[in-house]
Amino acid sequence: MAYRVIQWGTGAVGIETLAATLHDRPDLELVGVRVYSEGKNGMDAGELLGGAPVGVAATTDTEAILTLDADCVVYTPRITSLDDVCAILASGKNVVTTAFLFHPRRLPQADRDRLLAACTEGGTTVHGSGLNPGNLSGALPLVLSGMSRTIDKITLQERADWSDYDSTSITFDNMSFGQPVEDINVDATEFLAFNNELFTEQVWLLADALGADIDEVTSSVDAVAARADHQIFDHVLRAGTTAGQRWNWVGVRAGEPLVEIETLWTVGNEYPDHWPRPKHGWTLTIEGDPSMQTHFFSLASFTREATMAEHVRAANVATAMQVLNAVPEVCEAAPGFATLATLPLIRSHTGFRRG
Ligand SMILES: NC(=O)c1ccc[n+]([C@@H]2O[C@H](COP(=O)([O-])OP(=O)(O)OC[C@H]3O[C@@H](n4cnc5c(N)ncnc54)[C@H](OP(=O)(O)O)[C@@H]3O)[C@@H](O)[C@H]2O)c1
Repeated sequence: MAYRVIQWGTGAVGIETLAATLHDRPDLELVGVRVYSEGKNGMDAGELLGGAPVGVAATTDTEAILTLDADCVVYTPRITSLDDVCAILASGKNVVTTAFLFHPRRLPQADRDRLLAACTEGGTTVHGSGLNPGNLSGALPLVLSGMSRTIDKITLQERADWSDYDSTSITFDNMSFGQPVEDINVDATEFLAFNNELFTEQVWLLADALGADIDEVTSSVDAVAARADHQIFDHVLRAGTTAGQRWNWVGVRAGEPLVEIETLWTVGNEYPDHWPRPKHGWTLTIEGDPSMQTHFFSLASFTREATMAEHVRAANVATAMQVLNAVPEVCEAAPGFATLATLPLIRSHTGFRRG
């Protein structure tokens, strides 16, 4: 029997989970779509993908979605709502999300208690994952740690230029690129504080899973101004405004840094001289016995020509598939919180499309 799935949010990531649900996964059945844009309200899910209708209409009506009978909601909006997620969980639907809840055990207690109560009421499970936070900051370090005798420090660096990332609401509205540099700090806005929390949780996840026994996670951000104007889709990022953000989240035990996530993010492709220069993409370093380093990069293809838009889409596909592939495991998990440290290894369900 197929798992009945609701797609909640049809942006760059959500459109990929929606397409894969409809086209690649006979074990998943689409039963609902929650959208935010009035223009998408009432549209058929197949037509949202530019194809033939499939008989499932998208709606902006949260209540209508909550009353649907479904096994799992794939929750991928740009702005999260703990109220909505608790309502989904309490209504008996599991949740997989790319947006937050990567290690709910480390949420502020009131939020954690609410989520757990909703899971208990609905007999449901919530799982947050993706690319980073997600596989690269959770599963990959844990998989590599299987070859470790001892670990002294884990560092994940993400170096990315966002100029071709077409979710510009996230770039400019959520992440405050283009704002004055003096206005950027770890909790300057609701979203920056939220972003800070996401990666803080991710450091805790690794620390908890590997027994690092850290005291705290510290965070900092270095905002850097653009030297010139940059046209980013329909936005102009002005010279003198924020074009670079270097964030560091460090899990510390007795003053010693043990787990670190560093993001080196630019918009407009000016790279600050004083920042470290790992390769573009993600570099994971485990210092210990033995010390290991691996570099990850996703592209549309390593063998054929592809446009920049296709390459950018590849990261969205990776983010989307990491949670969609987890749907069966999350539906079968014990009620409560499921993380990359507690679920079985998530692997491709479609694989080589054979068998
Ligand atoms: N973990 C990871 O590695 C990772 C990687 C990339 C992204 N993400 C996260 O995944 C989520 C989706 O990212 P994306 O790239 O798909 O974003 P996006 O392209 O900007 O998509 C925007 C989504 O937000 C919805 N939306 C519009 N207005 C909204 C509002 N007022 N409140 C809530 N949602 C609203 C849109 O609704 P419609 O359906 O009507 O268009 C659409 O579904 C984000 O939370 C992002 O931070 C995580």
